[in-house]
Amino acid sequence: MAAIRRKTTATNGTVRFVLDGEVVAVDHVDPTRTVLNFLREDLGRTGTKEGCAEGDCGACTVVLGELDGAAVRFRAVNACIQFVPTLDGKELITVESLEHANGALHPVQQAMVDCHGSQCGFCTPGFVMSLFALYKSASRPSRTDINDAIAGNLCRCTGYRPIVEAAGRMYEYGNGTRKADENWMNCSFSSLTDRQPSRSERDMIERLRSIQRRDMLALTTGNRLYFAPARVAELADIRVAHPEARIVAGGTDVGLWVTKQHRDLDKVIYVGNVAELKQIALTDTHIEIGAAASLTDAFAALVGDYPEFDELFRRFASPPIRNAGTLGGNIANGSPIGDSMPALIVLGTTLVLQKGPRTRELPLDEFYVAYQKTALEPGEFVLRIRVPKPDAAAHVRSYKISKRFDQDISAVCGGYRIAIEDGVVRSARVAYGGVSAIPKRAPACERALVDQPWNEDTVRAAMAALDRDYTPLTDMRASAAYRKLVTKNLLYRFWVETTGQYTATRVLESFA
Ligand SMILES: Cc1cc2nc3c(=O)[nH]c(=O)nc-3n(C[C@H](O)[C@H](O)[C@H](O)COP(=O)(O)OP(=O)(O)OC[C@H]3O[C@@H](n4cnc5c(N)ncnc54)[C@H](O)[C@@H]3O)c2cc1C
Ligand code: FES
Ligand code: FES
Repeated sequence: MAAIRRKTTATNGTVRFVLDGEVVAVDHVDPTRTVLNFLREDLGRTGTKEGCAEGDCGACTVVLGELDGAAVRFRAVNACIQFVPTLDGKELITVESLEHANGALHPVQQAMVDCHGSQCGFCTPGFVMSLFALYKSASRPSRTDINDAIAGNLCRCTGYRPIVEAAGRMYEYGNGTRKADENWMNCSFSSLTDRQPSRSERDMIERLRSIQRRDMLALTTGNRLYFAPARVAELADIRVAHPEARIVAGGTDVGLWVTKQHRDLDKVIYVGNVAELKQIALTDTHIEIGAAASLTDAFAALVGDYPEFDELFRRFASPPIRNAGTLGGNIANGSPIGDSMPALIVLGTTLVLQKGPRTRELPLDEFYVAYQKTALEPGEFVLRIRVPKPDAAAHVRSYKISKRFDQDISAVCGGYRIAIEDGVVRSARVAYGGVSAIPKRAPACERALVDQPWNEDTVRAAMAALDRDYTPLTDMRASAAYRKLVTKNLLYRFWVETTGQYTATRVLESFA
């Protein structure tokens, strides 16, 4: 078991984070011990529940506070697939943290009680923490915001209506303002309020500042090594020195290898502390996204320029997964059903890869070489993702097909970009996930489109050409026949949406 102390001095080999207003130091922690097991087994904080241990049910939701300039940003994550050393430098808030010294409930909890938002109670701490994150970051959320905030939480007995109602009413208790937060100091304060932080809030920021590292965190526990470099140059050196180590970013793929496949990861390089890798910059020509930028941040930047992708990104997993998971992780994981790839491929995205001091740039559609195999060389990592800015002459879309709207894996995901001049297709990019071993462009379909008028005959010829591009498989998510039909119908939908040709008859005909 890990040794836990109250301590503030920096020592390599020690993980330090803030819990209930105090700095906690943990020595000798197994680098892949999950935050959930640590909370329940080492700290005896059993309010955080285990449902699925794979990021799906939300029973284990906790909130992390991270310094963001002069404020703290609060985000919900799934404790079941986060590793303890990734807490270093952050504030951990669990359902126990919401308890007031006088026993009063937090406004989120009181609203849940008053709206009858809990029955057996198993899911309740997870819902409370997801709503707490919402409470701390939005003062008047819309119904869509509320639905999205709890998209990663499952309840088997209460039903969602009372919980949604509680989310609407939680602001009535202390108006969701500083007054309520002052009472629950260990909840820190909202980064969105425009007021000056109170003294206790400033103390919390100071505490967080006191545990920020300028150097690399290195842990050795038994035969296990964990490195968390703070700078790109350190990451490059450590990656070359340990090419067999597993890079961990958000851990939303890798965490499951540990909790579900019981794989041992003896060497881990965590990239989440490298500030440069989390930066997002907008240039005249590109959206430049650091590989370790969270999906939440990366998608917000992309939707700023490409509002057409808003629904796709909202349907990507759930807020806790998007808060922890990164765009670099989604790309480097190499899954044929990753949702961001078809959209990024059709936009002409390139990757900046780094090995030691050397960098090279590679188009994303050349990055995937075979099933779950990428062009990354030993010792190399993804540094940055470069997404071209929109072209006024081009139409873009991406559609995800899965059984549920939220928190589901795609059966098929399609991406489309065509540039039209005088009614004629001048360039076309079409890519799909879920229909071959890798996310892949559709060259025959693209050829059928280019230099043709953007009309129904052309789109139908391009739909037929898709048969030459893909030979999908049948699996638990969909049959091969279904996938073939869907790839075609999604292209038809793209044409319908971009030409205003939508009529019920026409769409029904296409399904005939
Ligand atoms: C409940 C749940 C729902 C999900 N839903 C979706 C969904 O709807 N759509 C979807 O596409 N995915 C989904 N995922 C998968 C996952 O969330 C994404 O793939 C996510 O983007 C992975 O990012 P990460 O930072 O967590 O990666 P990690 O798990 O940290 O790493 C994933 C892989 O990428 C490698 N890697 C990470 N960063 C780098 C780097 N900079 N350089 C080189 N290699 C690197 C790692 O070594 C590892 O092989 C879901 C996962 C869960 C648990
Ligand atoms: S236990 Fe289900 S999401 Fe963590
Ligand atoms: S109250 Fe029983 S699972 Fe939600």
